[in-house]
Amino acid sequence: MTTSSTGVASDVKDLALAPRGKARIAWAAKDMPVLRLIRERFEREKPLAGLRVSACLHVTTETANLAITLKAAGANLVLCASNPLSTQDDVAASLVVDYGIPTYAIKGEDETTYFKHIRAALDHQPQMTMDDGCDLVTVLHKEHPDLLPNVIAGTEETTTGVIRLRSMQANGVLRFPVLAVNDSDTKHLFDNRYGTGQSTIDAVIRATNLLLAGRTLVVAGYGWCGKGVASRAKGMGANVVVTEVDPVKAIEALMDGFRVMPMLEAAAIADMIITVTGDINVLDHQHLAALKDGCVIANSGHFNDEINIPAMEALATQGHETLKDFVEEYRYGDGRKVYLLAQGRLVNLSAAEGHPASVMDMSFANQALGAEYMLQHARELTPQVYTIPADIDREIARLKLSAMGVKIDTLTQEQEAYLSAWESGT
Ligand SMILES: NC(=O)c1ccc[n+]([C@@H]2O[C@H](COP(=O)([O-])OP(=O)(O)OC[C@H]3O[C@@H](n4cnc5c(N)ncnc54)[C@H](O)[C@@H]3O)[C@@H](O)[C@H]2O)c1
Repeated sequence: MTTSSTGVASDVKDLALAPRGKARIAWAAKDMPVLRLIRERFEREKPLAGLRVSACLHVTTETANLAITLKAAGANLVLCASNPLSTQDDVAASLVVDYGIPTYAIKGEDETTYFKHIRAALDHQPQMTMDDGCDLVTVLHKEHPDLLPNVIAGTEETTTGVIRLRSMQANGVLRFPVLAVNDSDTKHLFDNRYGTGQSTIDAVIRATNLLLAGRTLVVAGYGWCGKGVASRAKGMGANVVVTEVDPVKAIEALMDGFRVMPMLEAAAIADMIITVTGDINVLDHQHLAALKDGCVIANSGHFNDEINIPAMEALATQGHETLKDFVEEYRYGDGRKVYLLAQGRLVNLSAAEGHPASVMDMSFANQALGAEYMLQHARELTPQVYTIPADIDREIARLKLSAMGVKIDTLTQEQEAYLSAWESGT
């Protein structure tokens, strides 16, 4: 840990990277008009004045714009990484040097450093947490019960984090109210689908430069993220196969025009496999043993446990080595070679830049307005998982449409009356 010349505590790769990070943060800001409007209001009204916030998020250009917005609102913010491989080192440096935000995040940090950084963020004694995947909240509950009485509320960005929080609530251990940002329509419908869809394909191409057209690409999980990945891969000419455990999602995939089959069958015909389920060992020993020579596998779900990497290592009796950035070759005993991208960590944030700013604009509008909402309503809230009120969700959509220059119709009085009546019919 160091303290920069500006007196800001941090642990980042290299503060000299700040100018490049600053330019990239400004580039992302151009495509985040909703967050800009919120920032302008926050600068005037200071709704988070003096609030100690510890945020555990992917340290990207878009997150930097959220951090700047929270600081403009008066928050006393500390940031750490929510994944060991997702940090953009130049952005982390700029947050410290240009924006005075204490940041603990280094791309490629080992797990010890990752958790050391989370603990550094907790040393801030947060009154509000902002999490992506629930690691901050979990460490807070497990290791620092002494800090829990300070915490007024939290927010959570992603599906996996919300699942963990609901489990904490069901087990009676959650000690403060948390807003499930992921559950907002203006978050998962766009971020998970179009954001993960585009950036996952972008990452696979950046890492491998393989042609998708004509290849069989298997997508595991047809939730919001999986739908995005499958549709974008189809658009690039891939022959997409979907695997699922939910019969409804499986029908959806079929009717969207994809082949659906069990993973054991899919693994044997796949040229590429992308897992995006939030589940464990989706690619397990028997699937990994069935892979064709040359198959490329990647994960875009939150944690790196969707692919059973120890099983892959066991199969690779002839060893494994990094061929190029984010591409590791596993050499099986019978001579087959298969390729794991980004150590099985979420590939879009590891081997590419994560979601485009335009979708993070809405996700982080939810984070910013959600933080304000949770603080304003803290007294009425109990330790459970909340969703953002529908009127805030709609307002974010209205602002986004307006920034995109798109107008829509409004209900006439006659239509409003008709839609709320039961008497009229044929
Ligand atoms: N890479 C990113 O930037 C990014 C962005 C948003 C969400 N995520 C993460 O991606 C994961 C998926 O998120 P989502 O919003 O799509 O969730 P979701 O709940 O909408 O979809 C997950 C799907 O996976 C299916 N599934 C579960 N186990 C499976 C298995 N063994 N085989 C096949 N399918 C299985 C479920 O039935 C479900 O349809 C989560 O971990 C989430 O946190 C990543």
